[in-house]
Amino acid sequence: MTRLCWLVLVVVSVFVACKTAETPKPVTPAPAPVAEAPKPATPPAPPPEPKVELPAVKPLPALPVGMVEPKAPAENPVTAEKAELGWFLFFEPRLSKDGSMACAQCHHTDKAYTSGNALDAKVGGAMNKRNAPTMVGLGFHSSWYWDGRMATLEAVSNAAWKGQLGADPAAVVATLNAVPVYKAMFVRAFNEPATVDNVPKALATFFRTLNTGNSAFDKDAAGDKAALSKDAKAGKELFSKGGCVSCHVPPLFSDFAFHGIGIGDDAGRMDATKEEKDKGLFKTPGLRNVALTAPYFHDGSAKTLDEAIALMAKGGNKVATQDPLLKPVKWNAKQLGQVKAFLESLNGELTYPDAPKLP
Ligand code: HEC
Ligand code: HEC
Repeated sequence: MTRLCWLVLVVVSVFVACKTAETPKPVTPAPAPVAEAPKPATPPAPPPEPKVELPAVKPLPALPVGMVEPKAPAENPVTAEKAELGWFLFFEPRLSKDGSMACAQCHHTDKAYTSGNALDAKVGGAMNKRNAPTMVGLGFHSSWYWDGRMATLEAVSNAAWKGQLGADPAAVVATLNAVPVYKAMFVRAFNEPATVDNVPKALATFFRTLNTGNSAFDKDAAGDKAALSKDAKAGKELFSKGGCVSCHVPPLFSDFAFHGIGIGDDAGRMDATKEEKDKGLFKTPGLRNVALTAPYFHDGSAKTLDEAIALMAKGGNKVATQDPLLKPVKWNAKQLGQVKAFLESLNGELTYPDAPKLP
């Protein structure tokens, strides 16, 4: 009997409690609150995680005909997820200190990833003292920058991130992780959100897959004898006989070594080694897509490809550290034009011809 009474009492009191908890609909508009409304005992549930629409992973581009597989370090193997993320980051102004500049600002797709200027200003306004080189085929180099002072693609990506874009990496990483699509893309590529370490790794992976090929030169090498014009064929001979090929070695048309040509007044390789013998030496630039990368040389001092070829043909400028491999050749105007036609035949298709659609 008492038990039943208790039960009834409990049921009734719960009912009453519920009823009183329900706020009755106000008949008249409530008066403006005078005091701050009391804080609810439990905070409202957080909004559900937004559903993230991830871009489909772009499959790794096929290695262009005539290229060997670029090496990647064991701690950063190439994957399609990383390459795609690096592609996005390269075009992403959020990577910079103030959101004003992306890597692509100085490395445009339509100029084979060069800037088109002799020299460019970094975020903050300081000028670069050297010309922005192409990003195509970087995976084949053995050191980076004109003077080779960087030993890995990860290190050079990190240096460019801080130097060119003025970034505070920790702050940029926080910005990226606040963008749900980026956070999810990092997790997909690295099993973790963006970090100061994996941003340069993604950029380096993108570079290892940024290649060019299928040029008229490549088609000719693959047996299509109609691919090269008569002039380009003659230019190919001259390029070879003139000794250009001893430094501009196929398939990238660079030996990735350092040579003195006598251009400008810059310590060059000596900046990296601190050795006098390296004064004024620069890494041989690759010549693929070279017709699209004006102006030329480490200081952008040659405005046109004709000017650059003419200077190389006369054997550069005489300086103490000039390379004995560079010998003057006596080419007439027609022959200079044929060498130009040959260099134009190196214009190929890019594995990444466009910018991605950024989140
Ligand atoms: C303001 C212009 C500018 C911006 C922005 C810029 N770069 Fe560059 N980049 C250059 C210049 C100039 C050089 C050559 C520097 C040197 O050799 O001393 C260079 C060189 C490089 C190289 C070495 C290429 C080689 O042949 O050795 C890499 C890699 C590179 N940049 C990547 C990047 C990445 C990644 C970003 C974005 C984080 C970036 N760059 C943003 C101007 C720029
Ligand atoms: C001893 C090695 C060597 C030889 C031989 C050589 N080059 Fe070069 N070439 C270089 C180096 C190093 C540079 C970059 C110099 C600089 O910027 O200061 C260069 C730059 C160039 C450039 C400008 C590329 C750019 O992106 O800025 C062209 C074009 C060129 N060479 C064509 C030729 C031709 C044509 C010949 C043959 C007549 C030739 N080279 C012979 C090492 C060589």
